[in-house]
Amino acid sequence: MKKLVVLTGAGMSAESGISTFRDAGGLWEKYPVEEVATPEGWQKNPALVLDFYNQRRKQLLDSKPNEGHKQLVELEKYFDIHIVTQNVDNLHERAGSSKVLHLHGELMKVRSTGYGQEVFDVDKAKPEINVGDLCPKGYQLRPHIVWFGESVPEIENAAEIVSQTDVLVIIGTSLQVYPAAGLVNYAKRGIPVFLIDPNEVAVNNDVHIIRKGASEGIWELAKILLEL
Ligand code: OAD
Repeated sequence: MKKLVVLTGAGMSAESGISTFRDAGGLWEKYPVEEVATPEGWQKNPALVLDFYNQRRKQLLDSKPNEGHKQLVELEKYFDIHIVTQNVDNLHERAGSSKVLHLHGELMKVRSTGYGQEVFDVDKAKPEINVGDLCPKGYQLRPHIVWFGESVPEIENAAEIVSQTDVLVIIGTSLQVYPAAGLVNYAKRGIPVFLIDPNEVAVNNDVHIIRKGASEGIWELAKILLEL
């Protein structure tokens, strides 16, 4: 079976009602990124940061995987699919994708701010994390999210996965955030590369661009791939 790596970003979940970051009306227009998604923001006002992610988690719990997520699961019948996502939602997993790597962390997990940085699942029945919510060793819990200025622990695993793929598909990312955006450069030379996005995204020329939203775009992609 051919390997197919899918790099996904916020646009993948847009049709599920989850806000993107940099589109008009996106999250970074409403919330100053340095206040809610940096270690400095956390030091300054942990309650504000926790509130921001509590809202994201609530939105996620009210959302469902969209047709695009489901079609990527269907494509597992034909390809060995690895999803490398910048998204912190769990919609790929809930749709049924079997291999999902999260580059920027996961909303439904939290971790200890103490030594060891142990990671815990968030209880769906009590999804809010507040100042004073502690891990069993007594340290404050923080979102299990990679903030700006923090290292991306999964980047080497992701680069390895991309370097082995036979086909690369990029869906719904503005490719503005590094190191994630640099992953495309790890693909072998000459393999087919597809990009699905309703808006223009700066990439080099030998990319097959499908200028559509995720679900419609993945239908089109599937038709092309099954003839490859
Ligand atoms: P962006 O908000 O930067 O980009 C979203 C992309 O999705 C844009 O290119 C849109 O055109 C596209 N898009 C919008 N609607 C779509 C649809 N229905 N179908 C397909 N594409 C659509 O989001 P990311 O590139 O994912 O990191 O952002 C990368 C990182 O920046 C995020 O992981 C987040 C953010 O800061 C952290 O919070 C650490």
